Amino acid sequence: MLMPTARHQLVAEVPQGSFAHDLASAFAQQPHTISPKYFYDEAGSQLFDRICELPEYYPTRTEVGILQERALDIAALAGPRAEIVEFGAGSLRKVRLLLDAFDRPSRYLPIDISGEYLAHAAAALRHEYPALDVHPVVTDFTQRIQLGTSPSGTGMRVGFFPGSTIGNFTPQEALQFLAGAAQALRGGALLLGADLVKDPALLHAAYNDSQGVTAAFNLNLLARANRELGTGFELDRFAHYAFYHPVQQRIEMHLVSRCRQVVDVCGRQSEFDEGETLHTENSYKFTVDGLRAVAIRAGFRPGPAWTDPDRLFSVHWLWA
Ligand code: AVI
Repeated sequence: MLMPTARHQLVAEVPQGSFAHDLASAFAQQPHTISPKYFYDEAGSQLFDRICELPEYYPTRTEVGILQERALDIAALAGPRAEIVEFGAGSLRKVRLLLDAFDRPSRYLPIDISGEYLAHAAAALRHEYPALDVHPVVTDFTQRIQLGTSPSGTGMRVGFFPGSTIGNFTPQEALQFLAGAAQALRGGALLLGADLVKDPALLHAAYNDSQGVTAAFNLNLLARANRELGTGFELDRFAHYAFYHPVQQRIEMHLVSRCRQVVDVCGRQSEFDEGETLHTENSYKFTVDGLRAVAIRAGFRPGPAWTDPDRLFSVHWLWA
């Protein structure tokens, strides 16, 4: 329920698309939903790195295992002098697997919204791969991307989108992203990691780890608001809640209010009932065929898809 106050109009002064704006809107509207992109400040990125190491969180190690095992097959498809375009350059560990297996890769274009992170990643890679032209692109890769033409002598343009980040988009956003990537990579290919539909108990454990790291990651959204926006969220008044929705084939993460409380975001007060939730993330799971069907709609021609022996995770080669 909304409780407009005298400070209500302050919200109008908050720039659209900012964290403050989106958080205030999330509390003002039903259902209360905010983009998971706000998880990733410095503290959130560190928590995510810890999630990737958790015994229950199988996606990272499973995808790395598939990439290690298939690195030479992937390198053969990419051919010599390939140019790797990574969407949302995350940990450099995964792209190193490609750089080490590919035949004289010529360029690496990590695309990320965080210029600081990119500069750091680029410096590390330039040092390790002196023959590689590392060319960071600071932009929001969820928007349409213009990559320009590659320098002469460059081989195939290979997009790289690991980690099943595609699952954090809505189906509509995923289609749009893939359509944009197909255009930007035309004549080349996309190497895409996608988490698979599986036993709900395994999914539940992956998002409800016993050390509470995922809970801290989820709650960091409010901690970040306290740090950056001066909101006074009391974190112990919210609980991490994650569950698998088998019809939607997605994990949903929420922050559930443990009591009736009034929250104040940039001058807009909202009453939050006990049990009311802020929906912070969807993580869609795919079937191999379902993912390939979306890729075809987006303009790709599916090549090989690789999975691990337990069929937990999939890696797709999609011709653009
Ligand atoms: C980044 N993304 C693919 C992760 C996921 O599994 O959806 C984020 C995450 N959320 C909770 N744990 C990990």
